[in-house]
Amino acid sequence: MKTLVLIGSNRKQGATATEALAQARELDPTGQDTIVHFVHEMKVACCCGCEFCRKEPACSQKDDMAGLIQEMLDSEAVIIASPVYFGALSGQLKTVCDRLYPVYRGGGKSLLAGKKLYLVYTQHSPCDTYADVRKTAEDYLFRFLGFQLVQTTVVGKDGKRYYAGT
Ligand SMILES: Cc1cc2nc3c(=O)[nH]c(=O)nc-3n(C[C@H](O)[C@H](O)[C@H](O)COP(=O)(O)O)c2cc1C
Repeated sequence: MKTLVLIGSNRKQGATATEALAQARELDPTGQDTIVHFVHEMKVACCCGCEFCRKEPACSQKDDMAGLIQEMLDSEAVIIASPVYFGALSGQLKTVCDRLYPVYRGGGKSLLAGKKLYLVYTQHSPCDTYADVRKTAEDYLFRFLGFQLVQTTVVGKDGKRYYAGT
């Protein structure tokens, strides 16, 4: 399966990368159709809020984000993996997510409609701690953008899976 992996932790051997890459191997065992990005290595500026993308399905800022959106559109599945930082997605990933605004075309329409999404969170706290936060991100970010959420996995700091489900 053509899989795009976005990892929101700088730590390449960390819990977030380990779980995300394991899931990618399940979706695409040979790895030939998998693209992996550690988002901190990409040139992605913060959304500047200019609203250019409300008129055109594109961004006024020219950096790696246009290519990333194209890779997302071309993929069959997207894995978004983040360490929990102060109860939320890492800043690295939030910046990328804000820049997905061009795919949302208003009135519930999205260029990503139906795209399979696998969410991975890693955290120090017990699994239930951020269930409300995860639900908010699901409703107001990921489902809003049109993703079809296939699975959410929550992993402890030691790499142990607390939960995998929908
Ligand atoms: C800046 C920062 C904030 C964090 N905030 C939380 C938090 O709010 N709740 C929590 O359970 N763990 C928190 N942690 C712990 C990380 O979520 C946890 O260590 C994570 O598994 C690290 O993933 P990694 O190995 O991929 O870096 C925080 C870690 C850092 C560095």
